Amino acid sequence: MATTNSIHDRVPLTGSSATIPRLGYGVYKSDDCRQSVLTALELGYRHIDTAQLYRNEADVGAAVRASGIPRKDIYIVTKMQFPVDNDVEKTLERMRESVSKIDAGEGDRKGYVDLFLVHTPASGPEGRQVLWKALEFLKAEGLTVDIGVSNYGPRHLLEMESYASVTPVCNQLEVHPFCQQKDVIPFCQSRGILITAYAPVVRNRRSDNAILVGIAEAHGKHPTQIMIKWSLQKGYLPLPKSDNRERMKANMDMDGWELTEADMADIETLDEGPKGAICPYPLNSP
Ligand SMILES: NC(=O)c1ccc[n+]([C@@H]2O[C@H](COP(=O)([O-])OP(=O)(O)OC[C@H]3O[C@@H](n4cnc5c(N)ncnc54)[C@H](OP(=O)(O)O)[C@@H]3O)[C@@H](O)[C@H]2O)c1
Repeated sequence: MATTNSIHDRVPLTGSSATIPRLGYGVYKSDDCRQSVLTALELGYRHIDTAQLYRNEADVGAAVRASGIPRKDIYIVTKMQFPVDNDVEKTLERMRESVSKIDAGEGDRKGYVDLFLVHTPASGPEGRQVLWKALEFLKAEGLTVDIGVSNYGPRHLLEMESYASVTPVCNQLEVHPFCQQKDVIPFCQSRGILITAYAPVVRNRRSDNAILVGIAEAHGKHPTQIMIKWSLQKGYLPLPKSDNRERMKANMDMDGWELTEADMADIETLDEGPKGAICPYPLNSP
């Protein structure tokens, strides 16, 4: 059976020659990040999402090296939250440190990450501009292939038009059936900004929802799998996190089956807007 948006797809990024694997693997609050990333890579995940905040960039780098998989076959994303002293050079230096923790390079090959994001718009207008300028320099230095944002609302993206020379390739948002980001996603899509979806299984906190349970039973799946499948069928790039090998496998079991139009319509009714978010919601920050 043909699968819509297979996890084996690599998705083009607007304005970039790079492509990004459709299914990601998140490492926020990973218990043993090095081992979990190694297991994820062994199972076939090829897109790893870390951040300075998670304090495990070095573990991700160590796992990638230990895996024996060529660096070019693994897509690595990291993020920085706040600028250093609102100073572009100091902020850039902190970004370079992240890159060298993840990939210090090898022989003649320079280390790099595939995508570096501004983690949150919460640093305010000046902070956002400093972070973006530093990312533009990081990209020009070849230390990141592409740059993007996370948790940006339309106002932050519009504001960027006044200072950005490079357009963000992606906006990483909390997206799942209970928080569908209907104000933000069409805005991003109209500008070619790809959506990567964090907390895609709502940290397993809503898996008892009757609609999801009903759909899961009809497909012989778990409600968390229904949430990931919904995300894929919507065209997003979900980033489920699990430290458990069986759940990592379950989160990849997405090919060869489809949610029906009726399933998708039922899931559409679950949206609670920003109230359905489980993480802090900085999309409206000034
Ligand atoms: N940009 C941002 O501001 C931001 C914010 C939050 C997260 N993120 C990124 O997005 C990633 C995912 O988000 P998240 O970790 O917050 O939430 P999530 O992926 O929705 O949920 C992870 C939790 O759900 C459990 N889980 C995973 N798969 C499961 C399954 N099949 N059945 C039952 N339980 C399952 C995991 O437990 P086990 O580990 O025990 O399986 C873990 O406790 C993060 O790791 C991070 O990389 C980004």
